[in-house]
Amino acid sequence: MNVLLIGSGGREHALAWALSASPLLTRLYAAPGNPGMAKQAELVTLDVTRHGDIVAFCKEKSIGFVVVGPEAPLVAGLVDDLAAAGIKAFGPSKFAAQLEGSKGFTKDICRDYGIPTAAYERHESLEGARAYLKKVGAPIVIKADGLAAGKGVTVAMTMAEADAALADIFAGRFGGASCVIEEFLEGEEASFFVLSDGRNVLPLATAQDHKRVGDGDTGPNTGGMGAYSPAPCMTEALCNEALEKIVKPTVKALADKGHPYKGVLYAGLILTAAGPKLIEYNARFGDPETQVLMPRLRDDLLTLLLATADGTLDKLSVRWRKEAALTVCLCTKGYPGEITKGNPIKGLEQDFGADVEVFHAGTTKKDGVLVSSGGRVLNVTALGATVKEAQARAYAAVDRIDFPMGFHRRDIGWRAIG
Ligand code: AMP
Ligand code: GLY
Repeated sequence: MNVLLIGSGGREHALAWALSASPLLTRLYAAPGNPGMAKQAELVTLDVTRHGDIVAFCKEKSIGFVVVGPEAPLVAGLVDDLAAAGIKAFGPSKFAAQLEGSKGFTKDICRDYGIPTAAYERHESLEGARAYLKKVGAPIVIKADGLAAGKGVTVAMTMAEADAALADIFAGRFGGASCVIEEFLEGEEASFFVLSDGRNVLPLATAQDHKRVGDGDTGPNTGGMGAYSPAPCMTEALCNEALEKIVKPTVKALADKGHPYKGVLYAGLILTAAGPKLIEYNARFGDPETQVLMPRLRDDLLTLLLATADGTLDKLSVRWRKEAALTVCLCTKGYPGEITKGNPIKGLEQDFGADVEVFHAGTTKKDGVLVSSGGRVLNVTALGATVKEAQARAYAAVDRIDFPMGFHRRDIGWRAIG
């Protein structure tokens, strides 16, 4: 089978790496992909916002399956347009992707199906939002309603911070004028991944990422500076509780609405004293969490993704390596703010050993030389008997990479190591 993978980040490189090992695969294409993925896939220059071009490419190359990595094409309805053209794809429909695209949509489902989440109110006017804020006080969480690349959320410890966040949202900084004001939840954060074929749910694994830019989890939020899997705090009992009380009712809700959820469902949880509560859903694999899930996966990824699209997940199980995996993101100085592009990266041709994999994100080739092209540039991933061992291996590899304009956190995994 020929497969087209959409996306160009570290997540997609990890997916390409796993897909390329599939006995079902004939040829793998990636659009637009990145230079690291060229080892596993043929890179195609396609504008992924032009769904007609993707359909035409799929017909030309006899693509049997399209795997969509990032959220933007899902929310834009790429999977719907592929389906209309008779092309099978992995990922939820535009309607179902609202679980990620609209916080309000998700909150309404939580209310209607009794799913544990933070108390909230949705507001469409600054006056109404301010009045509610006065009533509930700080600490409080203010979220823009819509996709804001992780930047639309303010955890406000004071009323002044909360007020400023509201002013930003209603000035249209995140493209809309609607917000969710949410109860501040206290507890450890963990990510729980499942596959859903619309009816059946297959739990995958757990992970934790580090969202803040600086050591000790300080500074502004980023897309993720590193991650590890499994998340030690997600015991089997907590996974079951999250599955029964959060994930399964959500999958039922979408089915009840006539839009079954097919794809990976990534639940962002906070483990409160009263049990796991949902803080957000993502309608795609996590980045950088995928970079730690894929090296631990013992079964064939393509088989799992096809069964998700075909509605046959009840016939499958999934096995994971006992080892832990940890990934460190190498970023361009300035990230998550202003960055420069075109900075040289050297040392990637060396052999880092069997338990280390370097997944590319924001890289490109300029005159045959590998240079940076984004904020998050490389994901150095290692397996180990424990998180601590994986961490030591990952940093040993990081230290052998020459990226003078880069920086990274030195403490990825600290929570799991103690
Ligand atoms: P989100 O984009 O909704 O995942 O929010 C980004 C980050 O803000 C999360 O990863 C949490 O660290 C934090 N956060 C979001 N909602 C809450 C909440 N209700 N209580 C505490 N922290 C939160
Ligand atoms: N690592 C967070 C995310 O993928 O949304």
